[in-house]
Formats: sequence, structure tokens, C-alpha cells
Amino acid sequence: MMYQTIFRPFLFRLDPERVHEFTLHALRFTGSFLPLKNFVQNQFTAHSQKNVEVEAFGLKFANPVGLAAGYDKDGLGWRGLTTLGFGHIEIGTVTPKPQGGNPKPRIFRIPEENAVINRMGFPGHGADFLENQLIPVASRLSSGILGINIGKNKNTPNEEAARDYVYLLEKFTPYADYFAINISSPNTVGLRRLQARDYLEDLLSQLSKACHKSSTPRPIMVKLAPDLDDAELDDALGAILDVGMDGVIATNTTISRKDLKSPIGQQAGGLSGAPLTAKSRGAVAKIYQRTNGELPIVGVGGIMSPDDANAMLDAGATLIQVYSGLIYAGPGLVKNIVENL
Ligand code: FNR
Repeated sequence: MMYQTIFRPFLFRLDPERVHEFTLHALRFTGSFLPLKNFVQNQFTAHSQKNVEVEAFGLKFANPVGLAAGYDKDGLGWRGLTTLGFGHIEIGTVTPKPQGGNPKPRIFRIPEENAVINRMGFPGHGADFLENQLIPVASRLSSGILGINIGKNKNTPNEEAARDYVYLLEKFTPYADYFAINISSPNTVGLRRLQARDYLEDLLSQLSKACHKSSTPRPIMVKLAPDLDDAELDDALGAILDVGMDGVIATNTTISRKDLKSPIGQQAGGLSGAPLTAKSRGAVAKIYQRTNGELPIVGVGGIMSPDDANAMLDAGATLIQVYSGLIYAGPGLVKNIVENL
């Protein structure tokens, strides 16, 4: 409640991207200063009476709630983020080379609809910078699960996209507990076409080959858009199952503006938050049905409350992730969800 009554009104008067940078640096500081790290961890860790651990794709998660990709693209704050009670943290999307992303402003809040529109376009310092922020899995002390979400550079044509993804998979295999393949962001022109069966089968086969060459193969999840129609979804799932990927993350942001009343809805980009809740949950339910519940699903999109979280799990998700919910409900949302599972 303190977040909603005191911090949020103040933060919402500032530019969303500035707030994002400020909170990320605050988390980076928190993660580097042990007494503060322990204090924050104590405040935000759920003390659930129930066993909330989840085992999925060969990994053990302390709880099912994770941070969705896009908040910490350059791995600046992951140590601090582990203090907020997440069972896993997904950093990225990282691209091979640094790139600036789209011109600012590129994040818009819609408070009256608990929503966000972003058209970031994968800004980031690139793969070498991210590598310098990370610690190999083998020497990491904390048991938290770290996923790395990978994407192609804007200038890489789709025909050569596999090269970017394979490069990132090989580079980050020592550091990632799992990989998320981002082929669903609406903010890189043409990226979502990689979800079409021909592209996808080729891309995933190359990734699978690269993964199995490694002595420590990591699970690979494929992140899908919520805007696929049934035939497109079946196509994508067909490729994912044929190649033997470990699971899907459903969903990324939507390009739909259905039922959105605010004029801010006219901004280009991906919509997230409350207007996405039903759509993402529907996608998870469909994927669960179409794969007979055999493919692990990470449910993400519009989880703004413990009820939304439980509904996403009931729809068939094994794990869930939050992003926009943190902006509207604050970091206490994670603990609140875990204690109400
Ligand atoms: C995102 N999201 C995202 N996803 C991804 O795979 N790579 C990325 O780089 C980003 N970047 C990003 C930036 C911003 C500002 C937002 C709000 C979102 C999408 C995110 O991970 C998630 O899939 C959607 O936002 C839906 O979840 P929420 O926000 O409704 O909980």
C-alpha cells in the first residue's frame, strides 16, 4: 500500500524511462552492498507456509514467479533483483552488437487502464557488455534462476537471424540457467515473421544443434506473441515440438488496441498490463490444450494481482512472469502473489 499511496504518485510524475533507469541503478546498488541486500531480501521474501517450489525443464525454482524480460536488458541490476523475492529473473533482450533502439519517448503509461505501451526496439550495450556483468552458473553462489532472453540486431536480416541467435546462445551458455528466444517483440521490424513455421523450424534446429554441442546444454524457451491466430499458433507450436524445444513463454506485448479507451493507445508499440490479461491467459490455455499439457509454459501478460497469477496457473502455466504489474502494484506484488498461491 505504501508504494501505491506514496511512491507511485511521485514516480508517475516523472518520465517512465527515467524512472526505469533510476530504479535499475538503485537495484544495482542494493545488490552490491551486502547489509542493504540482506535487509531488502528480508522485506520482500515471502514466508509461505506452503511448498511453492516448482521443478520445470530440469531446473528447480524457489517459487513460480519471475521477472519478465525487458526490465534489465544489460544485466545491470540482476543481483539486486534477486532480493525482491522472484523465483527467477529473465534479463535481456540482449542483441549481439550494441544498438540505440527507437527514438525517445518510447515508454508510455496509461494509468487509467493499468497499462503500458513501449516501443523500445531492443536498446542495449550488446553481448560483450552483458557478459561483463555476469557470473558463470558454475561459480554463482545464489540459487536463483537466471534466464537470458536473446534477440537479433535490427540490421540483421531475417535470413541471417539464426547467426545472431546462435552466437548469443554459445556466448551465454556458461551464464544462463535457461534461454528465451525472442521472436515476438513488435518493435523490431519483421521480427515476428520468425514465428512462421519455415523460419522457426530452421532457426530452432540451428539453436538445438548449437545447444547439444555444448557440454552444459541449457533449456531453451521460445517467447511467442499474443497476436497469432489459431493457424499461426499451431504452426509455431508444430516447429517448437518437432525440434524439441523445452517450452514456451506466452506472451509478449500485443499490437492490438481492442477495448483501449485512452488516446495514448494511438502510440505505436506493444501494449502490456491489464488490457493484456485475458488475451495472454487465453493464449496459455490454448497452448496447454494443443500440446496436451506436455510442454512447460511460462505465463506472462497482465498479471497485476494474486488473482491474475492464480488464474494464469490454472490456465496451464507452470511458471509466471510479471513486468507491468510491478509498475502499478510495486515490488511487493511478488511476495503478495507467492503468499496467495
Ligand atoms: C517489455 N517486454 C519485453 N519482452 C522481451 O522478450 N524482450 C524485451 O526486451 C522486452 N522489453 C520490454 C520493455 C518494456 C518497457 C515492457 C513493458 C515490456 C515484454 C515483457 O517481457 C512481457 O512479455 C509483457 O510486458 C507482458 O507482461 P506484463 O508487462 O503485462 O506483465
